[in-house]
Amino acid sequence: MRPVLLAGSSHPALARNVAAALQLPLGRCGLERFPDGELDVQLEENVRGAEVFILQALNAPVGEHLLELALMSDACQRLGARSVTAVIPYLGYARHDRRVSGVEPLGARVVAELIAAGRVDRVICLDLHSRAVEGCFPRPVEHADALPLLIAHLRSTLTLPAVVVSPDLGAVKRAEAFAQPLGLPVAVVHKQRISGSEVKAMGVVGDVKGRHVIVVDDMIATGGTLAAAVKTVIEHGALSPVTVVASHGLFVGPAQERLSVLPLSRVVVTDSVPFVGTARFPLEVIGAAPALADVIRRLVAPPNAA
Ligand code: R5P
Repeated sequence: MRPVLLAGSSHPALARNVAAALQLPLGRCGLERFPDGELDVQLEENVRGAEVFILQALNAPVGEHLLELALMSDACQRLGARSVTAVIPYLGYARHDRRVSGVEPLGARVVAELIAAGRVDRVICLDLHSRAVEGCFPRPVEHADALPLLIAHLRSTLTLPAVVVSPDLGAVKRAEAFAQPLGLPVAVVHKQRISGSEVKAMGVVGDVKGRHVIVVDDMIATGGTLAAAVKTVIEHGALSPVTVVASHGLFVGPAQERLSVLPLSRVVVTDSVPFVGTARFPLEVIGAAPALADVIRRLVAPPNAA
């Protein structure tokens, strides 16, 4: 029996691209609202005995998208699906993977538990903020990797000498994984977060002087981290303009304004969340569908397939 792919309302375009990559039709599911604002999910697909994949990005409004995912999964389970897998190109609250002040919740854990409450059997996540987030899930997590797509996109246009810059300590492993196949060195910006949208860069470890810089991070949200990193590397003698690569381009709050005044040649992100509006900076969006489709293909392949 062939698998069924369903799309939540957060990112139908990406779901269509994943369906096309898998040569599957997108399953039918009605998503409306009752007059009181509650979600009205009506499964219009026969999922009995099928392996069901529900694509839902958990970007804002995270709570609504999360509940929709849980309701869709519950409907599939009640209709006799063999298994339900949540395909989550962007996991909201993934940055809340540890308590900093000690008086806040462990948001990533709560979100992971709520996903499981919808009775999903497993989860596919694209480029999680940190691998440690996997530990928040009571269900198995499969990782989809956008880095090879981003590397392939940039490889042919690299200008040397270049250096890959991690904008903070948390992104060092990602920067190294990006730099290694391209044979590039890595430098790290020492970042201090002041608030949700404000950061301060304290300096750079590594040599950026006279080099083209590629800043690599997992996500751009308000653009504060990026702005601090770009200003710092230029102060330390890096060549301008700078290239930026991130798996998730949220571009929230002051991001457009911040990025529009930075010396940027390219800002390359995947379409893990939909971009709404017109970018006031040199944005390049590459499709994440191949990375997600690869994992789904692997999961539905018969155990003895090569
Ligand atoms: C931080 O740990 C992340 O890797 C990103 O650097 C950060 O969340 C980006 O947020 P913003 O664009 O708001 O600085």
